[in-house]
Amino acid sequence: MAQPTVIAPSILSANFARLGDDVSRVVEAGADWIHFDVMDNHYVPNLTFGPMVCEALKPHAGKALMDVHLMVEPVDALVPLFAKAGAGLISFHPEATRHVDRTLQLIRDAGCLAGLVFNPGTPLAWLDHVMDKLDLVMLMSVNPGFGGQSFIASTLPKLRQVRERIDAHARETGRTIRLEVDGGVKTDNIATIAAAGADTFVAGSAVFGSADWAATIGTLRREAGKASAM
Ligand code: DX5
Ligand code: ZN
Repeated sequence: MAQPTVIAPSILSANFARLGDDVSRVVEAGADWIHFDVMDNHYVPNLTFGPMVCEALKPHAGKALMDVHLMVEPVDALVPLFAKAGAGLISFHPEATRHVDRTLQLIRDAGCLAGLVFNPGTPLAWLDHVMDKLDLVMLMSVNPGFGGQSFIASTLPKLRQVRERIDAHARETGRTIRLEVDGGVKTDNIATIAAAGADTFVAGSAVFGSADWAATIGTLRREAGKASAM
């Protein structure tokens, strides 16, 4: 029951001295979404960019959805700011907010799609009572904070578990929820990751570190597509 593949390059691996150009070029190269990693030097040991940068980049993204990944604590105050700055989807880590259901509702009320993000060690029990408020579940396949890390293999059985829950929810309610994976996704492992149930793929260093972004995005999409034939 997976949906069409989405490739979401993370601009964490873009050239920060020419971000607007890199966003335009990666969308021309075939990016479906722009993955925007917000780090606060509190929830994660790194610091990136905020709503003003999102707003400045939005015109460069064209039709591509701004996929805002909040690695911040607390979460709520930033939700309306990112919604105003052009976010299409806002995801956050459940343990970084006091009231998960309230934060999800805030995102939806702001007119954005809502996602919940699980670190490699975060249990899936956080999904239990909020499936009806989710548009996306994201599994981190690295510990958050940095690009260019290696894919953690225990993400694969975890993806299969979430895929089952999402499919059961779709059978019960008719609602589809995307399953995104973030961290260490490359052309040589994306087929296995897709076979475990992911339909939405963040790729930072794999895309921006390659010589030909369009070719890399094309390969990622083709490899991910092989899973549906498996
Ligand atoms: C890590 C970020 C990721 C990161 C992925 O905390 O959330 O989105 O940019 O980078 P790669 O694809 O290089 O592992
Ligand atoms: Zn991310």
